[in-house]
Amino acid sequence: MSNVILEKISRNFGQFVAVNNVDLRVNEGEFVTLLGPSGCGKTTTLRMVAGLEQNTAGRISIGNEVVSDAARGLFVPSERRRLGMVFQSYAIWPHMTVFDNVAYPLRVRRRPAVEIKDLVLRALRLVEMEGFADRPAPALSGGQQQRVAIARAIVFEPKVLLLDEPLSNLDAKLRLQMGDEFRSIQKRLGMTSLYVTHDQSEAMALSDRVVVMDRGAIQQIGAPEDIYRYPANRTVAAFFGTPNLLEATVESCTRIDDLRVRLEVAGPGWRGPCEAANEVPPGQTVTVMVRPEDARIAAAGSKAGAGELTWSGRIAHTIFRGPIRSIVVQTDDGPLNVDAPAFGDYAIGDNVTVTVSQRTAWAVAETARSG
Ligand SMILES: Nc1ncnc2c1ncn2[C@@H]1O[C@H](COP(=O)(O)OP(=O)(O)O)[C@@H](O)[C@H]1O
Ligand SMILES: [Mg+2]
Repeated sequence: MSNVILEKISRNFGQFVAVNNVDLRVNEGEFVTLLGPSGCGKTTTLRMVAGLEQNTAGRISIGNEVVSDAARGLFVPSERRRLGMVFQSYAIWPHMTVFDNVAYPLRVRRRPAVEIKDLVLRALRLVEMEGFADRPAPALSGGQQQRVAIARAIVFEPKVLLLDEPLSNLDAKLRLQMGDEFRSIQKRLGMTSLYVTHDQSEAMALSDRVVVMDRGAIQQIGAPEDIYRYPANRTVAAFFGTPNLLEATVESCTRIDDLRVRLEVAGPGWRGPCEAANEVPPGQTVTVMVRPEDARIAAAGSKAGAGELTWSGRIAHTIFRGPIRSIVVQTDDGPLNVDAPAFGDYAIGDNVTVTVSQRTAWAVAETARSG
């Protein structure tokens, strides 16, 4: 297996910059996901690594071999990059059996028949499809077809696996199951994987690290937990889950440790402490991210703890979601979304206090971005 290094790569289509100055290093055996809204440049980035698209600037290396360098006009074609690829449409060939589908990359590479048989059966075993070798491809379910596509991608032991929304054609339940399965195959084989999805929960569940992209540029790179909890800016915060994003004014700022500061902030009718990555001078406006699952409601007038942000409000409506109930509390600063136990002791019209601990309220600088 190999690493993949992207150094300041860009891709222009005429005047349009689809990918802008992307720097990324995928370590050996690592599972890295490009995540972002449709049109943000994920597929273009992956296609440049694959050699299906040429970067207009920057340099790409796979396994410490430079495969594309715009400045030097160097470009190694796709078929010489030893990559396994899996795309959204399963693209397994309907006129072939499962065995022949998986054998195809080896036949193209003119491997001997005995070796082909061994490698194909091994790949099919890895995806738990060895019993299906002689089936015609159309006689498989969507999930089985996708497993065959994965087997075909890994059969020639590629240096790196590239996957572009491989699960998005599957229904929700199968998507979850296939994602978990694929992750365990990937871990077992230690395959360096670069994965593309627009689905944040898929990205969080599968990845060692997530790369959040927006409009062709990287917004943040980090472990799923860190990106979820400590988003670098408002764009990233808004992309994960459905957080409350509240404008507030900083009243004071003290450093906690190398990574975090404590801010006292105030918004319309609410105030309290939160945390942030960088020092913010008093008087400045920040966006405070409060996740619904971190907010608690109690009867009005309940005393808030010292380290807590506090709002007063009234329950405007509730939505039953099974494991939880989404509650909308109308406050002086507008609606606040709170996740509460599904069968808790509250009712529409109740006056309540909402509290959030300092540790779970995260402030990011206002990013005044147009568009
Ligand atoms: N061959 C092309 N010619 C012109 N524009 C393109 C081409 N390929 C992609 N784009 C544009 O580049 C942007 C990024 O596309 P893409 O990488 O497919 O996004 P994503 O995979 O994140 O949805 C989009 O605005 C898309 O329309
Ligand atoms: Mg795409």
